[in-house]
Amino acid sequence: MRPVPEPDELLAIAVKIARAAAETARRMRAEAITEVDTKSTATDVVTAADRAVERQVVGALRELRPQDTVLGEEYGPAGGRGGGTGVRWVVDPIDGTVNYLYGLPQYAVSIAAAVDGVVVAGVVHNAATGEEWTATRGGGAYRAGRRLVGSATTRLSQALVGTGFGYDPARRRHQAAVLARLLPEVRDIRRFGAAALDLCMAAEGTLDAYYEKGLNPWDHAAGGLVAEEAGLVVAGLDGAPPGPELVIAAPPALFAPLHDRLAAYDAAGGP
Ligand code: IPD
Repeated sequence: MRPVPEPDELLAIAVKIARAAAETARRMRAEAITEVDTKSTATDVVTAADRAVERQVVGALRELRPQDTVLGEEYGPAGGRGGGTGVRWVVDPIDGTVNYLYGLPQYAVSIAAAVDGVVVAGVVHNAATGEEWTATRGGGAYRAGRRLVGSATTRLSQALVGTGFGYDPARRRHQAAVLARLLPEVRDIRRFGAAALDLCMAAEGTLDAYYEKGLNPWDHAAGGLVAEEAGLVVAGLDGAPPGPELVIAAPPALFAPLHDRLAAYDAAGGP
């Protein structure tokens, strides 16, 4: 078995591939958006670009790291040829597909590397603006050479909180009910439409905190590491790891009050 590369080496691979993938997404959008299909519900869209970008990313990973496994949003798990390296890549080719469709500049390529199930490196690259956030486990989170430390806000009533909604109408009904109770207790709410970017915004303090139910691993693998490495607590309810039930990302001072409200409002419940 080959030795597992250091997080820095995995990050360098992820960054190189994410930049090329973002270029493809941008170019395909400039040319034309084609093949707009739906997935789980009529509002859950996938474009030809989502698929092409994922194929490009998986192809590049296969070249550079043929033995690793890949989990991608559009094509699911793609096994490595030999397996056994312990490295799994978690890929969202275009997070924020609805923004991509409408030309809103909030869509990103998200690539994370997990070793034995623990994310150790991640990049989130906003394909519309070129902004890029990176992190390695234990090595900090960065954008444009600046180390990220999250928001210094300590009161929930002063916190600008990001969130998002799933595509299933029943889930949205529950999420709206939770939001209706939380909204009067915070400064305001933002819904930008790309979970990976929301997590990076929380990491750099342009959002004070973020939460969402129903995220898939590719939505939060890279952005979650960026937030964690910026000093945020990234977790579910009652010490659970971040996952489909709930992802909360907040600086330590905001985490407990936000967590307790979300628990009281049953944010992890519903469909
Ligand atoms: C979605 C976005 C959105 C979030 C949804 C995700 P997609 O990912 O991240 O912000 O609210 O939960 O599914 O479909 O654009 O890759």
